[in-house]
Amino acid sequence: MAKKIVITGGAGFIGSHVVRQFVINYPDIKIINVDNLTYAGNLENLKDIEEEPNYQFIKADITDSKHILEIFEEFQPDGVIHLAAESHVDRSITNPLDFVMTNVVGTVNLLNAAKHIWKDNFEGKRFHHVSTDEVFGALGDKGFFTEETSYDPHSPYSASKASSDHFVRAYADTYGLPIIVTNCSNNYGPNHFPEKLIPLCIHNIINNRPLPIYGDGKYTRDWLFVIDHAIAIDLVFHEGRTGESYNVGGFNEWKNIDLVKELCKQMDEKLGRETGTSEQLITFVKDRPGHDLRYAIDATKINKELGWKPSVKFEQGLSKTIDWFLNNETWLNNVTSGDYQNYYQKQYK
Ligand code: NAD
Ligand code: TYD
Repeated sequence: MAKKIVITGGAGFIGSHVVRQFVINYPDIKIINVDNLTYAGNLENLKDIEEEPNYQFIKADITDSKHILEIFEEFQPDGVIHLAAESHVDRSITNPLDFVMTNVVGTVNLLNAAKHIWKDNFEGKRFHHVSTDEVFGALGDKGFFTEETSYDPHSPYSASKASSDHFVRAYADTYGLPIIVTNCSNNYGPNHFPEKLIPLCIHNIINNRPLPIYGDGKYTRDWLFVIDHAIAIDLVFHEGRTGESYNVGGFNEWKNIDLVKELCKQMDEKLGRETGTSEQLITFVKDRPGHDLRYAIDATKINKELGWKPSVKFEQGLSKTIDWFLNNETWLNNVTSGDYQNYYQKQYK
């Protein structure tokens, strides 16, 4: 069992839930959260655990190879869980190079640092790379992504993640690095940055602003509650087979338009608005270029091998998520001030 784990991107949406999962459940494991706090990273996400004795935060950019190597040399982690990334497809369309730098170069820097300190002694070591189902491209109306599906990324985001996955496997094949990869479907839940569909719509419904639906709204995503993803990462990190990849998904497909209608319904109830009020905010806008029609994960492998399955039903998870946003108005106001306003204007003008 690992004794010191570097978790990258631990101040972000999913990373903060993964950090909490490990800090709380494994008091004997030292967790070092390495994050450079981009617009998407926020230490407020970790307020409740920042004083735990087995937790430490280090501000560092994974594209800075020297700094990353220093951190690895100082702490000598035996585990790495790598989540730091530029994660938003729309931003990757306007700024692809940022995605190459963090997602590709940053990942290779981490692989090099792990390889350097572990030398050839890989006993008890593990490099867990957290990736996405978007590397597999787009599905038609039928079928699912399995671990055997060929890579076919379409957006600069998914191309950068696919590249990072290939580098991780190449380090296993070439240098014997003990790696493991998870490819997960769309997450939702508390602390989700309001550039992604669900938190963006929650924020806009609260403020009576239009709900922008790209194209005809029939694009389909498989949604998973973020804590179920954190639990899956914990299981795969501790019990998965070295060198393998595991798909993680919610068995929960929604067309965007139906999902936003469900969100409107729940929010009208919670805000005491007349049913149908928020739906009137739905606005069809220009489609995203290269928009993938459908993602759907076959999570049979992780279920059969490790016994994982989603624990939170979607309607219940969505309700918890809305409640979190309604109860964390300050968080939402903070992350939607400043730069977010510029981003929003440019993206939805
Ligand atoms: P996020 O954008 O919310 O958070 C990313 C975190 O990485 C932030 O804390 C940010 O500060 C940090 N970061 C970015 N660039 C960095 C750099 N150069 N150096 C150090 N830290 C840096 O992302 P997320 O949604 O939490 O996703 C986390 C990981 O999970 C990503 O690798 C993403 O590809 C993957 N993933 C996300 C989803 C999803 O639905 N959000 C689904 C599957 C997989
Ligand atoms: P998003 O949350 O950006 O995740 P991803 O692109 O990684 O799947 O988008 C989810 C779906 O919602 C996707 O089909 C694009 C669509 N979408 C909109 O229709 N409007 C929006 O404003 C956003 C951000 C996304």
